[in-house]
Amino acid sequence: MNVKPDFSKGHNYAETAPAFLSVWNMESYYGESYIVQNISFNLHEGEILALLGRNGAGKTSTLRSIARMDDPQVTHGEIWLDHQPLHKMKSHEAAAAGIGLVPEDRRIIPGLTVEENLQLAQIAPPVGWSLERLYDLFPRLGERRKQEGVTLSGGEQQMLAIARALARDIKVLLLDEPYEGLAPVIVDEIEKTLRIIKEQGITTVLVEQNAVRALELADRSVILDTGGIVFDGSAAEVLQNDELRSEYLAI
Ligand SMILES: Nc1ncnc2c1ncn2[C@@H]1O[C@H](COP(=O)(O)OP(=O)(O)OP(=O)(O)O)[C@@H](O)[C@H]1O
Ligand SMILES: [Mg+2]
Repeated sequence: MNVKPDFSKGHNYAETAPAFLSVWNMESYYGESYIVQNISFNLHEGEILALLGRNGAGKTSTLRSIARMDDPQVTHGEIWLDHQPLHKMKSHEAAAAGIGLVPEDRRIIPGLTVEENLQLAQIAPPVGWSLERLYDLFPRLGERRKQEGVTLSGGEQQMLAIARALARDIKVLLLDEPYEGLAPVIVDEIEKTLRIIKEQGITTVLVEQNAVRALELADRSVILDTGGIVFDGSAAEVLQNDELRSEYLAI
């Protein structure tokens, strides 16, 4: 049996309740350059974390590290999800453990309809949300179920990418800039679904350039700068802190 390590000593955050997702002293690198340095944070089940920072701060690299993608390579530290040691896993094992990464480019599979894109995600057990439940969450996808996925609008493709993650039995949703390039009204629609997803108990890490929108949705925020953490606290605190916002978020 895997036992969650005791993070009560040596971590740089002040939390005592057991965490659901724990990143502890994580370091990752591409080739010879260290990208993520000594990152630690804790997330409770059902929380939304806004992971913010300027371009090149290391947000995408952090998500990819947690999802155990080949690049960047995690060389130090531990990542625990619900008592499971992600740091010992490969990406497909992390996916089976409950990690759902929605990359920035969405990766909709060409030649497949909306429904086929979702069914493909459900091929291997454990299966997550049913098609019916997904179409309930995203009625636009239900209306377009027979349409080729790559012909959807940008907003609809983002919805499909999120739905595809939920079609597997995930515990944590890692979203890389889901609002990018979308009109405010579509962002509203996606934000509404993220609130519903949270109500269903799924934990979310939201990376966004649109920091204000992300902070309004999130419970907590971690701000990165040159691969390290410069802030870990409540989302409301960032919204109220002009210095933090102008220095690290340019808002
Ligand atoms: N495949 C790669 N090989 C080498 N270096 C990389 C690679 N991908 C990213 N980097 C470098 O890692 C650093 C962090 O990049 P990352 O993409 O994680 O930042 P980010 O915070 O997501 O930025 P953005 O807001 O622009 O998406 C940058 O200096 C970037 O140049
Ligand atoms: Mg990025």
